[in-house]
Amino acid sequence: MNNLSSHLKGPRIYVKRDDLTGLALGGNKTRILEYVLGEILSRGADVVIATSGIQSNWARQITAAARMLGIKPVLVLRTAQFKGANIDYTGNLFLDYLMGADVRIVEASIRDDVTSVMQEVAEEYRAKGHNPAIITDEPVVGVLGYYDCAREIVEQSARLGVEVDYVVHATSGGPTQPGLVLGFAAAGKRVKVIGVNSAAYDRATTISRIRNFIEKGAELINLDKEKLPSTVEVLDGYGDYGEATKEVIDAILLTARLEGIILDPVYSGKAMAGLIYMIQQGMIGAHENVVFIHTGGIPAIFAYRDLLFKKAQSLHSLRP
Ligand SMILES: Cc1ncc(COP(=O)(O)O)c(C=O)c1O
Repeated sequence: MNNLSSHLKGPRIYVKRDDLTGLALGGNKTRILEYVLGEILSRGADVVIATSGIQSNWARQITAAARMLGIKPVLVLRTAQFKGANIDYTGNLFLDYLMGADVRIVEASIRDDVTSVMQEVAEEYRAKGHNPAIITDEPVVGVLGYYDCAREIVEQSARLGVEVDYVVHATSGGPTQPGLVLGFAAAGKRVKVIGVNSAAYDRATTISRIRNFIEKGAELINLDKEKLPSTVEVLDGYGDYGEATKEVIDAILLTARLEGIILDPVYSGKAMAGLIYMIQQGMIGAHENVVFIHTGGIPAIFAYRDLLFKKAQSLHSLRP
């Protein structure tokens, strides 16, 4: 990201375009689903039941993957940050409907347990002769998706002759950050992986979820725990889940106008706001190399269009 790097007078920023991974407009969940759905298929499931918020990227990518694999996608979607006010079929939810997911909307926050609703839906499908699989949380095997991504970054940066110091991305305490930590540790690379919290969980819970994935993931790949970094780096402070602070909106507009790259307010925009902050505070030095992983989330911007459009109109172009 040449323009952003020189605008910030700081490190060289590279971008890993995981918004282009392919499943119905892409995102980080595609790499994770490769393993998670592999496991479900091996159990002979013909229906997959998943849960998240109504503007969920996870739900949209599961729907696309299920359609590719010929199994039925069922989504239990929580009203989450929209609290019933904006259950408009836009963004990710629109794409879920377009792909024909069986959508069940429940009045619940992103942290509520909706397992009983999922079990009722599974019972409904069983009664019709199906073999449904429920995904309540992301299984440990999902870390392998970002283990692969770390290996890819190691190979690609070696080809470019770049020594990567930092990887920055959005985290919800799921398999992305632990997968990256495991992948770099296994490759013997001292890359600092920093997750910027989407605030699906508070910082302490996010860190403990990541630690848990790292521990179980290390067993899965037989990695010597001595090779793992002692700390889990999570930056916080960009609003509650689904809330975009001024810094997040500014980061989205800056990236769009300097690089022509679109970020979202729930995840990747927060990650970019965090990266800008760390550069401005001197936490990341001017001569270092950073890889920003664009984890996707783009469809959700349409659900936030009013907020973003008003700000975009009130700004002068950053470029002459
Ligand atoms: C666009 C986007 N970025 C980042 C994340 C965080 O990934 P993880 O849940 O693996 O921490 C998610 C999902 O929660 C997401 O949809």
